[in-house]
Amino acid sequence: MKDIFDECQFGELKLNSRIVRTGTWETETEDGGFLSPAAYDKYEKIASSGVGLIISEMFVLDHKDRFAPYSANLNYVGFVKEYKMITDICHNYDIPILGQLAFFYYDDGDNQKAEPNDLKIEGIRKLQAEVIMAAKKFSFAGFDGMQIDVGNNFYLTRFINPYFNQRKDQYGGSTENRVRIVSEIIKVIKKTMPDFHVSIRINPWDVRKDGMTAEESLKVAKELELAGADSIQLTARTISYLYDGREKNPFLVYVDNLIDEIDIPVILGGSLRDMKSMNDVLNHSNVEFMSMSKPFVAQADFLTEWKANGEGVSICQSCNNCYSKKTSTCFKY
Ligand SMILES: Cc1cc2nc3c(=O)[nH]c(=O)nc-3n(C[C@H](O)[C@H](O)[C@H](O)COP(=O)(O)O)c2cc1C
Repeated sequence: MKDIFDECQFGELKLNSRIVRTGTWETETEDGGFLSPAAYDKYEKIASSGVGLIISEMFVLDHKDRFAPYSANLNYVGFVKEYKMITDICHNYDIPILGQLAFFYYDDGDNQKAEPNDLKIEGIRKLQAEVIMAAKKFSFAGFDGMQIDVGNNFYLTRFINPYFNQRKDQYGGSTENRVRIVSEIIKVIKKTMPDFHVSIRINPWDVRKDGMTAEESLKVAKELELAGADSIQLTARTISYLYDGREKNPFLVYVDNLIDEIDIPVILGGSLRDMKSMNDVLNHSNVEFMSMSKPFVAQADFLTEWKANGEGVSICQSCNNCYSKKTSTCFKY
């Protein structure tokens, strides 16, 4: 029987449980963008509670990004010093932590909002170099790896999606070509930093006509694995898929197929709120790793109680008010 608190391997990383605190912007900064004491406190509570892996809040590439007011920035003067303290807190509890990079716009030097079809080869190389530099910066600050967000509707998500990408060069057309911009980044990071975990967050599908289908996203995941990605995380904010004991939700069918198709770990998450259903999913599917975000916003150390009691339900009501506000604060609790 699998249990959410099993010790397990996640690629090269050893985890103390199957639970991932997934990317959640904190905006716990004070004047000048420095982290507030509350940020350290939050990470200490999460890391000491029974989580297996932490993925940081999203970091944007530059301060003009659409999500910059909500998220962290790799280029502020205190980044390495402050985040070294955050990663040290996690490592004190033997919890690995990945830094998440997600950007909505890309400024290629000529155009602040250059869409995937607009980028010249020089722009592609500039973008790739900036993401590789981000990996180095995360590594300097003690992160065990990084997660590149190629899910939701972020820039690279649009780049790999046939709905947005009509390029006629080697970065458009086939799945291999559309994913190439990310594959090349992964190859360079893994070649130069082999122990640095590279995780990619992807969408299982989207609803656009001629967009990303489930079949196509399986091919994307295979391309990413081939390039050297160490894990895949699915983003499914609006899909609730709790196992009801009768029939599997299409999303769970998709996840089982994905896990059959690739040999790297896959993280599943979205709307998971109680330990019993999570263990049910673990024991009725191929799933091995599960992520949660809002439950940690509602109560950073709730896993301590779950672990002690062998059961538990998050107090999070999934109202999503923490998401639509500038700070990721739970307004109910
Ligand atoms: C306040 C808030 C901030 C979030 N920030 C990020 C983020 O920085 N990066 C990311 O990939 N997803 C982010 N998400 C999405 C979550 O990672 C997650 O996919 C979503 O909340 C669904 O999971 P949950 O039901 O466990 O909350 C955020 C969600 C919330 C509510």
